[in-house]
Amino acid sequence: MHQPAITGSGVFTPSEVITNDELVAAFNAHADRWNAENAEAIAAGEVEAKQHSSSEFIVAASGIERRYVLDKTGVLDPAVMHPWLPERPTEDPSVMAEMGVTACRAALEMGGVDGAEVDLILCAASNHERAYPAIAVEIQQLLGAGGFAFDMNVACSSATFGIQAAADMIRAGSARKALVVSPEICSAHLEWRDRDCHFIFGDVATAILIERDGDAQGPRFTIRSTRCATQFSNNIRNNNGFLRRTRKGHMEDRRDMQFMQNGRKVFKEVLPLVSQHIADHMAEEGVAASDLTRLWLHQANKTMNDYIGRKVLGRDPEPGEQPNILQDYANTSSAGSIIAFAQHSADMTNGQMGLICSFGAGYSVGSVIVERRG
Ligand code: COA
Repeated sequence: MHQPAITGSGVFTPSEVITNDELVAAFNAHADRWNAENAEAIAAGEVEAKQHSSSEFIVAASGIERRYVLDKTGVLDPAVMHPWLPERPTEDPSVMAEMGVTACRAALEMGGVDGAEVDLILCAASNHERAYPAIAVEIQQLLGAGGFAFDMNVACSSATFGIQAAADMIRAGSARKALVVSPEICSAHLEWRDRDCHFIFGDVATAILIERDGDAQGPRFTIRSTRCATQFSNNIRNNNGFLRRTRKGHMEDRRDMQFMQNGRKVFKEVLPLVSQHIADHMAEEGVAASDLTRLWLHQANKTMNDYIGRKVLGRDPEPGEQPNILQDYANTSSAGSIIAFAQHSADMTNGQMGLICSFGAGYSVGSVIVERRG
């Protein structure tokens, strides 16, 4: 058995930013327009008028201040309310592959590894822009990598489940250098016309390079252990994919294709699930709260992270112990905890430990205990 280690991480951040104020102005214009178009039905009590959104609510309920997106023009146009991502010729890289490759190159550079040396690529994300050929295989070709590649989807837990899969393969010897890449185009999956959730998501791509510890050329994080769990719930769900045209009337609207959640229930059910999962993982590994220098948590909601941090550490986390990036990126699904790891781990010293944890639809929860070496 070989000891797996994270030797590189990379983040691709889109150049366009939407602040809460910009988002709310667009949503409110859309709501006014919709209310005017449906004035008769509203007056007759057949449909409810859309209420305005507010920046104050968004910050207080989620901690999110802004989000990066691939295209803001469509999202902020009250007549459109979704990003415009023009169709590409088949010979051009797909959007996910392009974002993913940028993140992969940054991870490879950090690890001092050439793309050609990589023999496993997992594209682990909550949505894939097509079913086949796998985005991972396209990334494999763009990087000039060998071996094999495949896509996987465990919603917000995709990256940690991907790390477990890759680390296990490195342990067993079926792969030697692996990339777990998570390009998340959440803006295309979010319903920007729905006041309850229009502020939640942003776009990003992350990549994690995993090698045999003995192959590492510099400082790295050995993967001490991983733990994944799932439990079925309909509280975060999307209802249609390729079967859409088989459903009567569903070609007329897109709501069924997008993210849906019962946010309050998610809050209540996921918090105990995640806290217990982490506690069990740490107990199994003989890791005490005082052994952990850092928690890199899933980035969905500040209140959720504050709660989990307190539960895991048994006290309020000190500044920097549990870094949040959601104020700048919003929820980026599976990539969130990896952005936090990539941006807040370089200062750690030999022997210090940390825990990456993501959770979300499924329900699913994945945790990874890592130790700094070098
Ligand atoms: N602007 C202003 N007010 C809003 C609003 C908006 N955009 N959206 C909702 N509200 C109002 C509601 O109408 C409600 O008003 P009421 O009390 O008069 O009925 C009130 O704010 C509370 O709404 P609620 O939906 O219960 O908010 P919340 O405090 O639960 O926060 C979430 C909403 C989504 C931020 C929160 O539930 C959450 O983060 N859940 C978990 C999300 C998560 O992790 N999902 C995983 C995705 S991968």
